[in-house]
Amino acid sequence: MKELLTLGIESSCDETAAAVVRGRHEVLSSIVASQHDIHDKYGGIVPELACRRHVEVIRPIVAEALKKAGAKVEDIGLVAVTRGPGLVGALLVGVSYAKAFAFARGLPLCGVNHLHGHVMASFVENPDAPLPMLSLLVSGGHSELFLVERPGAMKRLGGTRDDAAGEVFDKVARMMNLGYPGGPVVEKMAREGTVRFDVPVARLHGGESFDFSFSGPKTAVKNIIRVFEEKGEPTPVADVCASFQKSVIDALTAKTKLAAERVRPKSISLAGGVACNGALRERFKKLGDTLGLPVVIPPAALCADNAVMIAAAGAHMYMDNPESPQWMNYLEMDADPGWMA
Ligand code: KG4
Ligand code: ZN
Repeated sequence: MKELLTLGIESSCDETAAAVVRGRHEVLSSIVASQHDIHDKYGGIVPELACRRHVEVIRPIVAEALKKAGAKVEDIGLVAVTRGPGLVGALLVGVSYAKAFAFARGLPLCGVNHLHGHVMASFVENPDAPLPMLSLLVSGGHSELFLVERPGAMKRLGGTRDDAAGEVFDKVARMMNLGYPGGPVVEKMAREGTVRFDVPVARLHGGESFDFSFSGPKTAVKNIIRVFEEKGEPTPVADVCASFQKSVIDALTAKTKLAAERVRPKSISLAGGVACNGALRERFKKLGDTLGLPVVIPPAALCADNAVMIAAAGAHMYMDNPESPQWMNYLEMDADPGWMA
């Protein structure tokens, strides 16, 4: 039997992406059209502008993904699309396109949870990673800890109480007029700075909870900036970034360590856009050494939003249960902006 080719489509936020995956995780193509140019001057995502760009580019992006994979439309056996969580209008572009694509060709369709997709990225290059895996997912909308029993089956241990990790990187960057997205530029500035400011992160329930709260560091940075403004001095941006980044990474790794000691996983993994951060990646590797556990950190292109992770998640869902009628009954399927994993 010919191996299944899955077309993955992602449009939950500010990236329009399409990918073709063979079997469960062989990547044939991955195309990502980022919208950072549009949102940069606003210091954050403008939903209406995001939706308009998705509408403009989704067809050419899918065509490019097929072409790069050397696949014709008729070769595709499954469509997988992000249903949520995300911006409702943005999700609707991908979901509507995917439904039409699948329906026109009588193909099965999987609606994929975006957070499942991010965690699935850990298995694309490491399909045999030891299980259960403790996965820290840090993105623009989420900071979650999951215990992954197997690809596609995961239990949430804790998550964002207020601002997500990526969100605070973005907000802190905006406070210092560093542009959007904030993560990469804060990381770059932090490399040139010295950790010399106190940026406290709340320890929820004295360290007994697996939830995160990052509104504290955001306020701390705001206060540091205000003090310099009141003195009429320029903000030492690099030092603020270094101090802020260290505090957030300390908090993320400390919680992951606590959770690992509690649930005793066989491996740990990092997922989501913030996992592109070099300092966090280094600290996570060290954490693995401390815990004596293998560490899975996907390449940056698989951490940031992409459609490979959606195609791989869909392929797993479908191949684990190919006879299920749900894959063909998708005309009622809607975007689900608040869907938690
Ligand atoms: O996973 P992702 O691409 O989209 C969401 O699902 O949200 O994550 C985007 C987030 C943004 O907040 C961005 O600032 C952050 O990831 N990010 C980073 C870095 N690169 C992207 N945060 C810290 N350091 C980075 N190098
Ligand atoms: Zn994401």
